[in-house]
Amino acid sequence: MLRAAAAERNKDPILAVLREYAGPGPVRVLEVAAGSGLHAAHCARALPRALWQPSDVDPRALQSIAAFREAMQVHNMLPPIHLDASQSWETWGGTQPGTLDLVININMMHVSELRCTQGLFKGAGVLLKPGGVLFTYGLCVSSAIRHWWADQPSEQRGLRLQSEAEESGLGPSGHRSVAAAG
Ligand SMILES: C[S@@+](CC[C@H](N)C(=O)[O-])C[C@H]1O[C@@H](n2cnc3c(N)ncnc32)[C@H](O)[C@@H]1O
Repeated sequence: MLRAAAAERNKDPILAVLREYAGPGPVRVLEVAAGSGLHAAHCARALPRALWQPSDVDPRALQSIAAFREAMQVHNMLPPIHLDASQSWETWGGTQPGTLDLVININMMHVSELRCTQGLFKGAGVLLKPGGVLFTYGLCVSSAIRHWWADQPSEQRGLRLQSEAEESGLGPSGHRSVAAAG
């Protein structure tokens, strides 16, 4: 199992927010970039009505997630799948459009390329049910702005940063996005 000091610190604040969105009924969850698997095991155990699908792109992470699942005996946590957020949702393990209640992504956006964030938002837009939630935690907003900022001609940066940030949104795909500040 990979060591996950940050995940140890933030697992309970994250769980507290997820409880608000998990609801009383069955909940299908896809976690993108699950890393060590600590969040998956901790949150799935605390939310027994959830069916939790962890994933990552890194084989070491997949091994660690499987080890957490085994060690903590979390029965509503599925074996991890390989998922590259920069690739189309059609490669994400066969999840059907409009079938997920929650897509979770913790501390990936600021350590990965912009195309991973773009893929995450596109994939969540397709796979979430109407009213489903994309939960992100970490430096997501500052990361998105940083990527956008780097693309701007230098003479326009100061003029456009604020209005672009205020206007950014998810578009009309019918799901909400919840960002818990890190
Ligand atoms: C900082 S770690 C966070 C892990 C975990 N979510 C946590 O908070 O402990 C970043 C994770 O993003 C994953 N990652 C990076 N690029 C990815 C991609 N294109 N698709 C899926 N996961 C990716 C890495 O393998 C790593 O597990």
